Amino acid sequence: MALHMAVEVVRDSSNSLTSQIQNFIKREIAEGILHPGTRLPSSRRLADDLDVSRSVVVEAYGQLVAEGYLEAVQGAGTRVVRHLGDDRSVVPALLDDREAAEPLDAPPAPVRWDLRPGGGNLPAFPRREWLGCYQRVLYRADSGDHDYPSLAGEPDLRLELAGYLGRLRGVRTTPAGLMVVAGFAQTLGLMCAVLPRIGIDALAIEDPGHPGQRQFVRESGLRAVPVPVDAEGIDVEALAASGARAVLVTPGHQFPTGVTLSPRRREALVRWARDVDGWIVEDDYDGGLWYERGARPLALQRTDPERVVYAGTASKSLAPGLRLGWLAAPVPLLDLLMRARARQDLGTETLTQLTFAELLRTGLFDRHLRRLNSLARSRRESLEEAVRRHLPGAAVLGRGAGLHAYLQLPRGTDEAALVARALRRSVLLRGAAAFHTGPGRGAPALVIGHAHLPRSGVGEAVRQVAAAAHG
Ligand SMILES: Cc1ncc(COP(=O)(O)O)c(C=O)c1O
Repeated sequence: MALHMAVEVVRDSSNSLTSQIQNFIKREIAEGILHPGTRLPSSRRLADDLDVSRSVVVEAYGQLVAEGYLEAVQGAGTRVVRHLGDDRSVVPALLDDREAAEPLDAPPAPVRWDLRPGGGNLPAFPRREWLGCYQRVLYRADSGDHDYPSLAGEPDLRLELAGYLGRLRGVRTTPAGLMVVAGFAQTLGLMCAVLPRIGIDALAIEDPGHPGQRQFVRESGLRAVPVPVDAEGIDVEALAASGARAVLVTPGHQFPTGVTLSPRRREALVRWARDVDGWIVEDDYDGGLWYERGARPLALQRTDPERVVYAGTASKSLAPGLRLGWLAAPVPLLDLLMRARARQDLGTETLTQLTFAELLRTGLFDRHLRRLNSLARSRRESLEEAVRRHLPGAAVLGRGAGLHAYLQLPRGTDEAALVARALRRSVLLRGAAAFHTGPGRGAPALVIGHAHLPRSGVGEAVRQVAAAAHG
């Protein structure tokens, strides 16, 4: 393997080339720029690159090996040592680096059952199907597919999405009415950028709702106005009383309570938007994931496509790491969103878009959703059964949909204490309090990500939660 390395040397310095190379490498290690274990170029290669005699580099490397900064590995050349001895002045810097590399939100070890919703807690990604589609896309790709992407998204994907969203979610749109984005987060970012430009400085949000989104809205400079949610979804009267002219809702499967916006409220919500000349942002984050018997609720957007911005994402159905989402908006607003986007990034990665288009076109995405829904249903059934058996005072609320469930705890349960006690039993839980805008606003509950667990794991985890609940 031919490696290269950037080394600064000054030819007419009073310092020898050997000591310049030596000092440079030491400094790079001390500052954490050259990382432990990094392989360095062979002495011949570095000497060629620097246009110096090979013996200069051989001597510099040899000295650094002798001092314990580098090590010569049989058959693998020279590399920065993995663990520096205590007498190296660089040790503190390297240790700090290793500590900083720890992910901030890593669960405290040891955790056997991670019942938190979202993040990487996802059931299987369709690796084989994705790879097959990616390969076909890559073989077909021409130079245009390696150019900057279209800001609105690849036409092939928008065509497939328009068909899919109309068929599965009843969304009224066309390929020209869609934009492909980096997940729902970008839809929210774009809306937060555009709303002030059309004279709106507040965005109403559901309470309880997604804490990250709440914070995002606030940090975007908009007022985040909490509006309560009950068994019928968002309270439209409270929304009207709030004075806000834009709202972010999850009507299909409210996050996190899992309720569906009732037909009465759907009508009232759209009427409100017309009355205040306002906007509804529909976050259909787990729109393809529905396993309850009977008809699934269709997108709210179909009721008034001129007032509702519909937003979807691949984060629940495929993986959040793809950063793939889409939005449908009426043309004048779509233009503004597109202009805002031109200031944020230059579009979504082309091959990922084309791979997803291929997955949709071939029906493999529908097949994946069927499998995912059947898996999520079986875990939900296990959860309900385990709760009936081990936590008789608790109840699983919300629709049979998505990858999480809302577990209402018996009245009087100390939610925070339960979460802490469960952790001692290796179960990581997320209490509902974090989803509310203020303390003491909701009855004690847990928001449980269940679909990624093995079937037997659901029962075992709930048994541990029950044991924690009983002290
Ligand atoms: C309510 C809600 N909306 C949207 C998303 C997805 O966001 P994104 O598409 O940015 O990953 C999630 C994922 O956790 C969510 O819980």
